[in-house]
Amino acid sequence: MEIKITRAAALKEKPDSSKLVFGKAMTDHMLIIDYDAGQGWHDARIIPYGPLQIDPAAKVLHYAEEIFEGLKAYRTADGSIQLFRVRDNIDRMNKSADRLCLPQIPEELAVSAIKKLVEVEQDWVPREKDTSLYIRPFMIGLDAALGVHSSHHVQFIVVVCPVGAYYPEGLNPVKIYIENEDVRAVKGGTGMAKTGGNYAASLRAGNRAEERGYSQVLWLDGVHRKYIEEVGAMNVMFKVNGKILTPDLNGSVLDGITRRSCIQLLKDWGYEVEERRISAEELFDAAESGALEEAWGTGTAAVVSPIGELAMDGRKVTVSGGKIGEITQKLYDELTSIQWGRTADPHGWITKL
Ligand code: PLP
Ligand code: COI
Repeated sequence: MEIKITRAAALKEKPDSSKLVFGKAMTDHMLIIDYDAGQGWHDARIIPYGPLQIDPAAKVLHYAEEIFEGLKAYRTADGSIQLFRVRDNIDRMNKSADRLCLPQIPEELAVSAIKKLVEVEQDWVPREKDTSLYIRPFMIGLDAALGVHSSHHVQFIVVVCPVGAYYPEGLNPVKIYIENEDVRAVKGGTGMAKTGGNYAASLRAGNRAEERGYSQVLWLDGVHRKYIEEVGAMNVMFKVNGKILTPDLNGSVLDGITRRSCIQLLKDWGYEVEERRISAEELFDAAESGALEEAWGTGTAAVVSPIGELAMDGRKVTVSGGKIGEITQKLYDELTSIQWGRTADPHGWITKL
């Protein structure tokens, strides 16, 4: 499908790449592709970035008929640009689409559209260390009628923005609060999909955690309210007695692409990785006995983020003495080296622009 390009009349001033706030500085253009039942995907276009015109009765505004993805474009030392695991993001978007009754987007169409938008915005891919261009594809149901039904008219939209670290702490350990009141997702719900409603459900606990001085919430499962699931914007991993533990993909946890990549690297290095149920109790006990050696989160925005403190109710433990652990640092170094093209890509994760 041809992608029609309409250039912005005036370009914005680019922000200082050493002071980027995550997701704030949107670029000059965005991409839109329409979908109509019976017609399929049509009218792919890159247009100047700006507000969308949406009917106030559109389903997305009332019933959260929305899914999204997050990936990044990286500037390599020779000035070229590359994407990390873009096909995996589109594959996951199609799984989310299935859960939300949104249409499947052909992988080739989505990948070529993302590549084209990044090419148009190539001057926005920053060069400063640890910065990248964050890519946010999303899909919204736009039928204008208040009945609760899935939409026949849908748009796939991509916006991009230069980013640095997700957390203001950078690579310094973050403090995480284990939430035991609100629930983010339950089995059979939408936890495995990347859909706006999951994040709406997370806002209250996130605010409460911030008021207590914590960066994010670690969710417990919605059935037993006992087992660790994931953090607000990342999956979690723990090193306990030399072994790596991470919650299994039970249907209410997002199948993180950074999680998959870290599991692969850990296995490459000979670590045993156990994907299984982990209770908060087990974690606190391991921390108190000294068996919990490291804890970290994994995510596109957060990359590999050390966890320095875990708290729940009156219980609080420090992990790795509040410093970044050895494996956390090694994972961060290896993953970012592949992403920024400083080392070989043995698993075929990179797509050159
Ligand atoms: N879990 C949640 C709830 C997220 O929002 C994210 C971020 O995308 C992740 C996990 C990590 O997923 P990925 O590594 O694919 O970015
Ligand atoms: C990402 O890591 O890409 C995410 O989607 C996290 C986001 C919720 C900030």
